[in-house]
Amino acid sequence: MKKFLIGFMAVLFIAGMVGVTMVYAGAVKAPSGPLVFQNKHGAVTFQHSVHLKAGLQCEKCHHMWKDKTKEPRGCKECHKEKKTNGVPRLYDMAHHSNHSCKGCHKARAKAGKSHGPTKCSGCHKK
Ligand code: HEC
Ligand code: HEC
Ligand code: HEC
Ligand code: HEC
Repeated sequence: MKKFLIGFMAVLFIAGMVGVTMVYAGAVKAPSGPLVFQNKHGAVTFQHSVHLKAGLQCEKCHHMWKDKTKEPRGCKECHKEKKTNGVPRLYDMAHHSNHSCKGCHKARAKAGKSHGPTKCSGCHKK
């Protein structure tokens, strides 16, 4: 009987932890409004809503997001104007590799999938 009770409590405890984790994971939301990157080449507007509707996972962009109980860190906290501590510069974050803004759009366009702008003026507005 005692063993059964301990087992039962352990199951309850685990179920509780899973529940808490799920509530926390659900609590982290993407910003609802547009985010604007100001830069010399012309401001670039990014909208989470468009990208989430296209079915992209948070981790596709927030590639360093490990602790899901906390908000992911902004890209600009690590990616600076110049390469810093081995972190590629903002320019590379925006245009290089297929998880960058332009890189993903180009790769998806090539694969015949829905995609965002691939031309400079499609993203940069003066
Ligand atoms: C297509 C790429 C992309 C996807 C997918 C994406 N994000 Fe983001 N997210 C960004 C960019 C870009 C920023 C702006 C970061 C900056 O200004 O440095 C951002 C910013 C944020 C911020 C604000 C962080 C800060 O402190 O500036 C939060 C919170 C966030 N995203 C949560 C999420 C969550 C949760 C998901 C999944 C439901 C998600 N994002 C999906 C690209 C993306
Ligand atoms: C905690 C620091 C950190 C944060 C936050 C971060 N990155 Fe990175 N990023 C790195 C590091 C380190 C690398 C190089 C190693 C790698 O590719 O994983 C990198 C590489 C990249 C690359 C590849 C660039 C190239 O030239 O190959 C892209 C694209 C990128 N990050 C996009 C983003 C985006 C978009 C965000 C925000 C949604 C973001 N990163 C947030 C640290 C970070
Ligand atoms: C992993 C792929 C991926 C990444 C990374 C990505 N996008 Fe997109 N983007 C898309 C897709 C897919 C669409 C088209 C959605 C649709 O039309 O259904 C899109 C659409 C857009 C649009 C057109 C819709 C609008 O909001 O006006 C803009 C602008 C845009 N993206 C900007 C950005 C910027 C800026 C970044 C980087 C901070 C970025 N994207 C990163 C996949 C991506
Ligand atoms: C998919 C969207 C997208 C496309 C297409 C795009 N860019 Fe960008 N670009 C960005 C984002 C996002 C940034 C980062 C803004 C920042 O520095 O805060 C950026 C930054 C830059 C910067 C850095 C500006 C500075 O202040 O250091 C230059 C230069 C630039 N882009 C030139 C171009 C050129 C030239 C093209 C076309 C060949 C192009 N971009 C196409 C999204 C895009």
